[in-house]
Amino acid sequence: MTTSNLKITVNAPKPTSLNYPPHPKFGTVFVPTVFKMTLERGQTSGFKGSLDPMGGLDLQPGTSALHYGQSIFEGLKAFRQKTGDGPSIAIFRPELNANRFVESARRMMMAEVPEHVFLDAITTFVSHNAAVVPHAEDHSLYLRPLLFGADDVIKVGAAQKYVFLVMGTIAGSYFNTGSKGVTQDHGGAKVMISREYVRAFPGGTGEAKTAGNYAASIRPQAEAATHGCDQVLYLDAQEKEYVDELGGMNFFFVRGQDLVTPALNGCILKGVTRSSILELAPRLDLRPKEEKVSVTDLIRGIEDGSIQECFACGTAAVVSPISALYFQDKKGGGYRWVHVSNTTITQRLYKLLSDVQRGLGSPAGWLHSVNV
Ligand SMILES: Cc1ncc(COP(=O)(O)O)c(C=O)c1O
Repeated sequence: MTTSNLKITVNAPKPTSLNYPPHPKFGTVFVPTVFKMTLERGQTSGFKGSLDPMGGLDLQPGTSALHYGQSIFEGLKAFRQKTGDGPSIAIFRPELNANRFVESARRMMMAEVPEHVFLDAITTFVSHNAAVVPHAEDHSLYLRPLLFGADDVIKVGAAQKYVFLVMGTIAGSYFNTGSKGVTQDHGGAKVMISREYVRAFPGGTGEAKTAGNYAASIRPQAEAATHGCDQVLYLDAQEKEYVDELGGMNFFFVRGQDLVTPALNGCILKGVTRSSILELAPRLDLRPKEEKVSVTDLIRGIEDGSIQECFACGTAAVVSPISALYFQDKKGGGYRWVHVSNTTITQRLYKLLSDVQRGLGSPAGWLHSVNV
């Protein structure tokens, strides 16, 4: 199979069915195929990949990414479409992920997978696995492209050889709270605001989707869980006053007709969901705003009622209401809760985005159709 300048060898049968529970736990149900490709730093043509049965990788103990963290990934979804005469499966805005993958690779000094190669790989992967793209209303196929340095050399430096993989999992609700996700049947996420840990800092890797950012978030996340929180909301590294984002999601709040999210500052991941929500906001008569958000003003706004709703968003989490924030008024002070009870606009945004992802009223160019 050849698509543009990516040659793909098919070594795996097309799956015809996949068994999983009605509420699959996020990231646990893999489709039985994996796309694999090796490439070199600086390579611009002659890309050769394969669709293989899901399974083991042949890695040496010296594999450079395991030691020095040259590892980046993406997360995007393929949806069954609700439109009768349109394509029956489409991937949501993959061009943005392809572009972010290149930007992440550049920051980490890794081989760059050209955007058209990325798109060919994921489209062919979804087409091959079309039969197992879920039909259930609230399920989708979550795609996980991954790139890591694969030199067998124990010395810090940019690897020459890389492995590019695409795998897929069945996605239901991200928060493990039942059938319909956090919006419908969960009271909302409880979020701890950290004045101790930071996720990113100016000049660091916060804007890249690289493994180390997530490794650093595991301890804060676990500590938040001991306080009954589902997620951590990170502040800026220098003043610990301005809101950046959550460990794996962007942050929004509703202030009257304003739909506000922290402005990109090099420390925040440029979420595809974030930019989609900003673009869709006028459809709900909301004014999209990107601002420098002070946590003191945020808490005050929630307490005096001028801020009515808060939510997190991302490919995995879609649009998830935040029902409570657990925070310290200042570093070293005691923690207290502030509650957010309204979710009206958050729910409308969830519905709007979900419909758009399934072909109902999607802006031109947002859905990348897949041959089935
Ligand atoms: C740190 C972080 N922020 C935000 C997001 C949301 O980005 P997207 O909407 O592209 O999934 C993610 C998820 O990928 C993330 O890991």
